Amino acid sequence: MALGITASAPGKLLLFGEHAVVYGSPCIVSAVNQRLFVTVTLNGENVFHLSAPDLGLTAYSKNIDTLGGKGLPTGVRFIEVLYKRFLATHPQIRGIDVVTKSDFSSSFGFGSSSAATVAFAKALFTAYNIPVDKRRLFEICYQTVLEVQGVGSGFDVASAIWGGTLYYVSPGKVIEPLVTGNLPLVVGYTGVKADTPTLVRQVAEHRRRQPKIIQGLFSQITTIATRAREALLVGDFKTVGFLMNENQLLLNELGVSSAKLDLLNKKAVEAGAWGAKLSGAGGGDCMIAVSPMYKNDPRQSKTERRKIEKEIDCYGELMKVDLGAEGVRLEEDAKNNN
Ligand code: PMV
Repeated sequence: MALGITASAPGKLLLFGEHAVVYGSPCIVSAVNQRLFVTVTLNGENVFHLSAPDLGLTAYSKNIDTLGGKGLPTGVRFIEVLYKRFLATHPQIRGIDVVTKSDFSSSFGFGSSSAATVAFAKALFTAYNIPVDKRRLFEICYQTVLEVQGVGSGFDVASAIWGGTLYYVSPGKVIEPLVTGNLPLVVGYTGVKADTPTLVRQVAEHRRRQPKIIQGLFSQITTIATRAREALLVGDFKTVGFLMNENQLLLNELGVSSAKLDLLNKKAVEAGAWGAKLSGAGGGDCMIAVSPMYKNDPRQSKTERRKIEKEIDCYGELMKVDLGAEGVRLEEDAKNNN
């Protein structure tokens, strides 16, 4: 019996540049240490089987000649479309069994779809013994996300592949690793799931009606992301926090924040955060706050962090995550079998 190949990819949080990144501005994204796992096993039949309980699906099967098409269940779409694209360039007789498992709920806005797409692609190429580098993975995963979702800058796909904290320009024009390791951020969940494609379309409509105003906001967001890149490179988190507050003001003007996001940002800053903003499309999902970092006084840094965490936990849901996590990887069993 064939052995399964398991790959995992991290979720992500956007630090700077949301929405503007769709129109060519840079953004900064960091991978979170919550992962999505996908196991691919060659099954010897010309059938595609999928079990994705965390994506709301337990048993799904299809002949590999009939993949794709309209009306696919949501949990399946990304994986099935990617498999179809893969088979178009690497035809196969033997199909696969796919099982997915997630560390995190798809409601948080950590990017479960892109993490699932990337982890699946890595496990798929490995199972069929076809070499694949990061760029090729990016290409096939981003094309898949565009086909399924219609919109998106691809920052989430890049983050799931490269991990760490990246400076990104769409569509993969610049993918620059900035810093390795964790960042001093506190993450709060609003309890509300954001609808990213709808918000992206709303901003597009806004831009169509008021091009000058929206373009003006985007160019200010570009300046902020550029300055944030420099601040992150030298570990100047006070400036990172200041720039987050500035970025949030522009997101408010863009009309994508919400009362709950604004409340959590305000509470974090009142509790001593160096800055706070929403993360992602807006309307819900998560916010992030920079916790003060005293290089010579780690105890003081910890005390300050606790104050912010307590406040976030009181008004929203505190998410205990680390940032700068590793990108897509094969899990131990897969490495040993290859
Ligand atoms: O909602 P999220 O975390 O998937 O972030 C969306 C970010 C946007 O810039 C609004 C869209 C995109 O694809 O870049």
